[in-house]
Amino acid sequence: MNNPNTLSDAAAKYLALEDQFGAHNYHPIPVVIEKGEGVYLYDVDGKKYFDFLSGYSAVNQGHCHPAIIKSLQEQASKLTLTSRAFHNNLLGEYEKYITSYFGFDKILPMNTGVEGGETAIKLARRWGYNVKGIPENQAKIIFAEGNFWGRTLAAISSSTDPSSYQGFGPYMQGFGLVPFNDLIALEKAFQDNTVAAFMVEPIQGEAGVVLPSEGYLKGVRDLCSHYNILFIADEVQTGLARTGKMLACDHENVRPDILILGKALSGGTLPISAVLADNEIMLQILPGEHGSTYGGNPLACAVAMTSLEVLKSENMAENAENMGQLFRSELAKLQSPLILLIRGKGLLNAIVINNKDPEFSWNICLQLCEEGLLAKPTQGDKIRFAPPLIINEKQILESVNMIDKALKKFSV
Ligand SMILES: Cc1ncc(COP(=O)(O)O)c(C=O)c1O
Repeated sequence: MNNPNTLSDAAAKYLALEDQFGAHNYHPIPVVIEKGEGVYLYDVDGKKYFDFLSGYSAVNQGHCHPAIIKSLQEQASKLTLTSRAFHNNLLGEYEKYITSYFGFDKILPMNTGVEGGETAIKLARRWGYNVKGIPENQAKIIFAEGNFWGRTLAAISSSTDPSSYQGFGPYMQGFGLVPFNDLIALEKAFQDNTVAAFMVEPIQGEAGVVLPSEGYLKGVRDLCSHYNILFIADEVQTGLARTGKMLACDHENVRPDILILGKALSGGTLPISAVLADNEIMLQILPGEHGSTYGGNPLACAVAMTSLEVLKSENMAENAENMGQLFRSELAKLQSPLILLIRGKGLLNAIVINNKDPEFSWNICLQLCEEGLLAKPTQGDKIRFAPPLIINEKQILESVNMIDKALKKFSV
């Protein structure tokens, strides 16, 4: 039972523990998960659910993917961390693997997605000073309104969402904003020759799966090249086959100057992120100038290689593309008056609910949970649907049936 008032004793106990001893910085759906397998999650009472969040797209390969878990276990029993004070026997191999996988000269390994963003910005500033010739301390980074790249002070300093930034000032300097999907505004911002980079998500995930018009990424690429400004693609959520291609930038055959990856780089097992760039950018940071205790640890290297390998060997991008199309067309067939809009690419999808009250979407998610499907509202009136990329046709049809049943409990 998922009504907070009718939780089982076991589930209620876990909720009470979190409430008493944990910070109140999240508002989770009242369900307590204890096991995951493929596209399914199981709660402490043994109830089975479709996972339509995939750990915010960290679990693209499915929960506890056997090959990833095997790599994790094998490496964990041998060597987990050396720090970068010493070399380890997997880092170089991983660096070679991932740079040839994505076609960049070099990688800088970090842990979380937000550290990837921070790293990309530091690289862009350095490049701005050393290569572009921007006067000291004047480099600017432009972001798109509605962006989300994490919770550090730099990340919230570029945010346009008051619930992210309000009450946490003072903020980072040297950041600018333009509307998302607006090349004219971008070109205007690029007239300033202290701009070092434009950092953007190819599809804005946390904003509610907001897709730009076709040609936007190509336009960004052209403007960045024309004005000698770095194009930073934040593919932490859109990358790694989620949108039906290995990278969302691949939909427009565009190559960013700096690529940030995270989340599914470990298939949901460890925080692993990566920043990829060519030598002209990457070699601007010298020994001792940036790093992280856990970045590039051998456990992460082993897990990341297998996580990348199974994306390709199991054709997950292709499956995401096909299952995404099926999902959206089956949802459209429901003709639900509650669904104002269905949007997405591959298996990164959202519906916009025909009721602006955030409580309404929240209640729909509670009902979905009751039916056996886990999803979460984002930005009030949107519900994101992003299952693991291994989902099959039968499971898509079953899940749409659950969504149908849940929606029918509400009226506009
Ligand atoms: C596009 C994007 N970038 C960066 C991040 C931050 O990743 P992390 O939570 O691992 O720091 C997120 C997290 O949702 C994201 O969606």
